[in-house]
Amino acid sequence: MERLIVEGGKRLNGEIDVHGAKNSSLPILAASLLYGGQTVLKNCPKLSDVDAAIKILTYLGCTVEREGDTVIINSDHIAQTEIPENLMHEMRSSIVFLGAIISRMGKATLSFPGGCELGPRPIDLHISSLQKLGVDIVEEYGKLCCQATNGLKGCKINLSFPSVGATENILLASVMSKGETIILNAAQEPEIIDLANYLNQRGARIKGAGKSTIVIEGVEKLNSVEYSVMPDRIVAITYLCGAAITGGDVLVNHINTDDIESVLPILEQAGCKLSVYSNKINISGPSIIRPVKNIRTMPYPGFPTDAQAPIMAMLTVASGTSMFVENIFESRYKHVGELTRMGADIKVEGKVAVVEGVKKLYGASVEATDLRGGAALVIAALAAQGVSKINHIYHIDRGYETIEEQFNKLGAKIIRE
Ligand code: EPZ
Repeated sequence: MERLIVEGGKRLNGEIDVHGAKNSSLPILAASLLYGGQTVLKNCPKLSDVDAAIKILTYLGCTVEREGDTVIINSDHIAQTEIPENLMHEMRSSIVFLGAIISRMGKATLSFPGGCELGPRPIDLHISSLQKLGVDIVEEYGKLCCQATNGLKGCKINLSFPSVGATENILLASVMSKGETIILNAAQEPEIIDLANYLNQRGARIKGAGKSTIVIEGVEKLNSVEYSVMPDRIVAITYLCGAAITGGDVLVNHINTDDIESVLPILEQAGCKLSVYSNKINISGPSIIRPVKNIRTMPYPGFPTDAQAPIMAMLTVASGTSMFVENIFESRYKHVGELTRMGADIKVEGKVAVVEGVKKLYGASVEATDLRGGAALVIAALAAQGVSKINHIYHIDRGYETIEEQFNKLGAKIIRE
């Protein structure tokens, strides 16, 4: 099993480019199934989750080739409507294929997506939304058997929670349905806008993506398109945290700084100096990180839950007490135990985590528990005194392109073995 060996104490300096967004590439890859034709997807990151999505597309009947960071999909011949168990378990978010397969083939069978490291991942909002659009869904033996017997018909859907995945599934199922679909309380994440932009460039009629009400006018056909994936805002935040905790000076390129508006004030409260441009940020970390009193994770445009672990890692060495409230996922503090092994002082009580800053972290042997929790361990190891060994780095590879190479470009000393 691969692991990362990190020699701490190196100040990060220099320039780094952010790769394409995992959480935008995945729904767009699913959307390439719609209608047929060719999608040339540029700035598509080289990640294991993307590889898993490509495996699913190929299994369903698409031809998919990758040339560097461009993935070319032809979905003229779809032969399957079922995603096999093994492929479903490779990537929890494969639930987003459901809407696309039903829209294209009129039926779909998926095994219930397993829970993941963040706790149970219910899909009740996905199911109820698709049922409203005219999909009959039967759950048997752990499988979801879906059939749009009389086709998909537009309707009004009010989401009780602005679920990102459910919003994406509704978009994918409604772009070619009959009539108009209105989503109320839709997720407003930038990845929703990216998916809608891709679909509209193919001829879909989606208005309001990025707001809480989205209106979709069903169309009869979609054309082929060349599209470039938005930059990954969480990877950008991760790099910024690495620069902050090491007191470094780093220019992070290729990001839409509007997408991380809610995180910049936290970095400034922590003592970082930021020079913010529309598509890059220069960050100078302080000699001592300052605590941040209260960080609540919220749906976009609030503080993103995916940034909770990386920001927490940065605050473990603050000169005081910081507090987090994790409002999105049930158990998203699995990284706390591992950070504690490095000398962090963190107490978790339900949704709340209280981080007492310590003077120093110490290198230790730790295990990545999930994608962003794993990234948090890398951030902590960059500043720790001595050498850290980070195991189970397959979690990290799901969402970061060769994280060690990126940080080494800035002067870190990380070896993958
Ligand atoms: C997406 O997950 C992202 N994944 C997550 O990123 C991200 O943390 C999350 O959105 C929130 O921003 C992808 O885009 C592939 P949700 P998703 O549906 O769609 C509950 C990462 O690190 N819920 O908005 O699963 C759910 O349990 C990953 O890149 C229901 O109750 O998020 C959770 O508590 C982690 N019923 C909350 O809503 C449902 O039917 C947010 O889930 C659906 C969700």
